[in-house]
Amino acid sequence: MEKSLNNGKVKFYNGKTLPLEMHKVKMVQAINLVPLERRLKALEEAGYNSHLMQTSDIFMDMLTDSGTNASSDAQVAATFMADEAYAGSQSFVKLEKSILDVFGKKLLLPVHQGRAGEHILAMTFIKKGSLVPMNYHFLTFNAHVGLCGGGTVNLTIPEGLKLKSTYPFKGNIDIQKLEEVIIKTGPEKIPFVRMEASTNFLGGQPFSMENLKQVRKIADKYGIMILLDASLVGENVYFIKKREPGYENRTLGSILLEMSDLCEIVYFSARKVSSSRGGMICTNRTDLFDMMKNFVPLYEGFLTYGGMSIRDIESMAVGLRETIDDNVICQTPEFVRYVVEELDKLGIPVITPGGALGFHVNAMEILDHVPQTEYPGQALAAAFYIASGNRAMESGTMMYDRDENGNEVIQDHEIMRVAVPRRVFTLSQMEYAIDRLNWVYINRKLIGGLRFTDEPKIMRFFTGKLEPVSDWPAKLAAKYREDFGDSL
Ligand code: F0G
Repeated sequence: MEKSLNNGKVKFYNGKTLPLEMHKVKMVQAINLVPLERRLKALEEAGYNSHLMQTSDIFMDMLTDSGTNASSDAQVAATFMADEAYAGSQSFVKLEKSILDVFGKKLLLPVHQGRAGEHILAMTFIKKGSLVPMNYHFLTFNAHVGLCGGGTVNLTIPEGLKLKSTYPFKGNIDIQKLEEVIIKTGPEKIPFVRMEASTNFLGGQPFSMENLKQVRKIADKYGIMILLDASLVGENVYFIKKREPGYENRTLGSILLEMSDLCEIVYFSARKVSSSRGGMICTNRTDLFDMMKNFVPLYEGFLTYGGMSIRDIESMAVGLRETIDDNVICQTPEFVRYVVEELDKLGIPVITPGGALGFHVNAMEILDHVPQTEYPGQALAAAFYIASGNRAMESGTMMYDRDENGNEVIQDHEIMRVAVPRRVFTLSQMEYAIDRLNWVYINRKLIGGLRFTDEPKIMRFFTGKLEPVSDWPAKLAAKYREDFGDSL
């Protein structure tokens, strides 16, 4: 069968640019849109924290794409072939073959999820005083580096920090600053430069191959390694194909191999890169592999499963190959592009251009009357839930714990991240999300802030409880009843 590639290329006679799904639904899970009264109660019970809500109260779960992407029939079928064994499982041999074909790496260390890989990387390479320059940070990576006495520095290009832009590669690292930091710090203190594909906290923005090649030159000049966080690499590769001159006719597979070849170590969360669970560190260098190897049986599990179920290893072996399938990987970026264009038309401030993993709404601008110490990102997520039953996530000041003096660490941006897990939602569901977000935007002045009632010292973002600073949820609900009548 000759396979047709869509990539948003299918044109509609009516001139629309709709993202066309290149799959059909074979198995479904019912979801529940609970009535407004229950939504208000559910928020209260969860202490206005998205992470403490129950999925039985949620309609579209847009908290994250982590572990929530849809599986393919081929992945599910593969799970039945699991060769259950503590050591020497043939399922792991399939995974090795898949990693070699997709990433071009021969040596792999399985871990139970992405952050477990970060734990091993930090224990192996980070010492007191180490510094890791990167295109942008990720929460768990930073925490592990910090625990080992090191630090990180974001060297994002200035364009990357502008929320509204047409720049195609906002995830690029600033090459000049990178060299300055290396000279100032001393290359011996820098174990690697970390490049995150489709930078999660920057709005899923990709880096270009050209940028990575320049990083390679600098890294070679100073004898430093490159570490690739490939958790969202499929989408980054897709954006290179769509946006970078010279790559339009290349296969995603060949672009990914070129990218991986520029990096000594590649690690990822399999919860994001495919729909399976687990994670991986891979390399072609035996010396690096040997330095990390013994941590796997100690913290994760034996070297041929690393804390993953063998069924997930089978699923991952198939899922990684699907990561370089245009029809699979185009799904989220094309949905996000569509939503971002629609929101933009409505005047709702979103991060542009659309990136990977979801769309990102500028809560600081929408709720400019809510101080950053009252967490506009989470307040907007609460309002969005009241209006739609959909769950989103804050990415801003609430995500970071207070400093040692008890002061808030005020962030540059207050964002509501609305994840679009791969091949999970239909276009009419996305239209519903857009519609309700528009209603929230129109009624933004009714929305107020939140304050902690129970604030843990660490990871408050996941487990802390909050309350509204006024009775704004009730006022917003009254307006909802007025506008929507007996609609749920
Ligand atoms: N790196 C990136 C870029 C990630 O997005 C994540 C997780 C990790 C590493 C850690 O992997 O969760 O398997 O331990 N991102 C999730 C999210 C949590 O919601 O974006 P993990």
